[in-house]
Amino acid sequence: MGKSKIIYGGLKGLDQELRRAEWADARYTIVVDENTFNHCLPQLVSKVAALQEAELVEIPSGEEGKSIEVASQVWQTLTENGGDRNTVIVNLGGGSICDLGGFVAAAYKRGIRHINIPTTLLAMADAAIGGKTAIDFGGIKNSIGFFHPASVVTLETGFLDTLPQEELLNGMMEMVKTAAVTDANLYDILMHTSTLEPKTVKEVARMKSRIVKADPYDHSIRHILNFGHTFGHAIEQYSTPMPHGIAVGIGMLAAMYLSMRKTGLDEKVYTDYRDWLRRAVEIPHYDLRDIEQMLPLMHHDKKNSHGETRCVLLQELGAAIIDVSVSDNEIRDTLLHL
Ligand SMILES: NC(=O)c1ccc[n+]([C@@H]2O[C@H](COP(=O)([O-])OP(=O)(O)OC[C@H]3O[C@@H](n4cnc5c(N)ncnc54)[C@H](O)[C@@H]3O)[C@@H](O)[C@H]2O)c1
Ligand SMILES: [Zn+2]
Repeated sequence: MGKSKIIYGGLKGLDQELRRAEWADARYTIVVDENTFNHCLPQLVSKVAALQEAELVEIPSGEEGKSIEVASQVWQTLTENGGDRNTVIVNLGGGSICDLGGFVAAAYKRGIRHINIPTTLLAMADAAIGGKTAIDFGGIKNSIGFFHPASVVTLETGFLDTLPQEELLNGMMEMVKTAAVTDANLYDILMHTSTLEPKTVKEVARMKSRIVKADPYDHSIRHILNFGHTFGHAIEQYSTPMPHGIAVGIGMLAAMYLSMRKTGLDEKVYTDYRDWLRRAVEIPHYDLRDIEQMLPLMHHDKKNSHGETRCVLLQELGAAIIDVSVSDNEIRDTLLHL
């Protein structure tokens, strides 16, 4: 799989990159939604000379954009504009746009280049990096997709200025996740700063990119990024509408509790995280009746095999263990303790 070049120097860095010879024949199509059209596109085209003449496609924002119908509309536009193998898709948006635009690029003419310019915190720290592209299909999220890494990912944290608070919180949770499984110092910074520094966002992005390099196709070490997600997916589905990031934040609390029981995580890590999380979100209480309905959701999680529930747990901050098998009774006990 090809590798992405990550540009930490924002739009200025992208402007320089696109002046290089390898982009000389490129013809760009920028994919935006209503919000990134308004808040991000003016800056992009004023700062990156190569994109001033780019074509534009606007798609619906959020999950709605990740459909085969929307992908088909983008392919249609590319075709009408005489798209060829020099066409380059520029994804200007959150994880939804990066996933959809990457998917479109992966299939068009058997794979053309794309550039991710993430505009949400979640996309900067997570979704824009790592080569996974997807659409939703048949009611199942991300069920059709390709590994097709962006040629370039540009991190421009200035775009976060217009991002709604809830979206910032979503992204923050996934950042905490990456830090928890890779780097105790970075985790500590996230727990103790009230204002998010651009360099912290970039550091988390760097961590994600390191893990992806070690396991691009998600067969082994990359599974650590599912920390909090086995519980998180069940919580997200059971408690709808709950944003994914918030559910993962609560899922991590569950996983830390279980880690304390099974893999020797220090109790203080769990209690400190619980205190931090309580300040950010309302943690739901589940009774046994709720939990019986959540158990099948845990069993269906994609990481399970042979009918067991498997979780990523922590030995300590920065040291995760994948594929720990967890019994229904342990799940019940954990969810009761939230
Ligand atoms: N490919 C991967 O590895 C990966 C990883 C994690 C998540 N994802 C996917 O990412 C998607 C979620 O991404 P997301 O959380 O970035 O949400 P999103 O892309 O749906 O964006 C959330 C909202 O913020 C708006 N927005 C974006 N940038 C803005 C800005 N700068 N100012 C104001 N508004 C802005 C968008 O228009 C949208 O309404 C999901 O579909 C998920 O499956 C993919
Ligand atoms: Zn997630």
